[in-house]
Parts: sequence; structure tokens; C-alpha cells
Amino acid sequence: MNISASDRARLLKAQQGELDGVVTYLRLAELVSNETDAKTFKRLAADEGRHAAVFKQYTGEVLQPKRLQAIAVALAYRLLGKRILYPIIARFEYSAVPGYEQLMKDYPEVGSVKDDEKRHGDTLKALLGNGEYNDAPLILPIASVALLVFSIFYRRRMYHGQSDRFLKGTDKTQEG
Ligand SMILES: [Fe+2]
Repeated sequence: MNISASDRARLLKAQQGELDGVVTYLRLAELVSNETDAKTFKRLAADEGRHAAVFKQYTGEVLQPKRLQAIAVALAYRLLGKRILYPIIARFEYSAVPGYEQLMKDYPEVGSVKDDEKRHGDTLKALLGNGEYNDAPLILPIASVALLVFSIFYRRRMYHGQSDRFLKGTDKTQEG
């Protein structure tokens, strides 16, 4: 099959994205706080592996998954929790669809991949509705600590500002 350089680049990029998706979903499966989500992510990881194989048929290239996305998504899960993160991942899944629709005109096998991405988006949204919200996003404690530190710092500044003015008998804002 004769593949143009630009198509080859797109197919390779898709293959890499699918491989990165495998490690990302496997990492999420380890992290998530309930069985339904973990099982689902393992299934999604298997799908992404199949997708990578579809693109490999065209590129003939063996690629290695990159872990950066998995690390970023794991961190985002810890920080944000599922209610914020899952819709973001769903949006990424849906966003792959138009590009794959283009590719499937010349590379028909991509058609099944495209259908799966749409289904993955729907699956992630469905997980949001399963009522299992026993994760503990760190964003709340982090925000509370930040607020506490800020309020202490702010009060100290207020206090110093007042004592300076008191000692000098003048208002600093009037100087200069
Ligand atoms: Fe995929």
C-alpha cells in the first residue's frame, strides 16, 4: 500500500496516541476507587491496544508507549477526582472522532476505531452516573491549606503595616 508522508505521520501519531491510551487506562484502573470503574478502564485499555494494532498494520512500525500522559492523568485524578476528570477524558475521546473520520476514507480499518472512541466517551460519561464517588480529590484540602496560609500571611501583613504606621506615627501610603 502506498502511503503518503503526511498520511504516514498522521497514522503514526494516532498509533502513538492509542498506545499511550493503553498505559493511561491501565494506570487509572489501578488508581480508581471502585471496581466498576477499574474493570471498565481495563476494557478500555484493551480497546486502545487493538486500535494501536490497527494503525500498526498501516505503518508497519513498532512503537513504545510513552508514560507522560498516564502520569499526568493519574495526577489529575488525584487532584480533581472523577467528577471533574472523567468528562475531560470523554471530551478527548470524542475529539479523536473527526480526525479518524478523515483517515477512514483511505484507511477503512480506522472506521471501527472511530466508532470505539465515540463509545469510550459515552462509557466515561456513564461511569459518572454509577453513583460511586468514593474518591477523595486533593484539590479541596490543597485549596483549604492555601486559603489558610494566605489568610495567615495576609493578617501578618496587616498587623505589620499597622505597627509600622503606629511606630512611625505616619501612614506609609502617604510617603514617597
Ligand atoms: Fe482508541
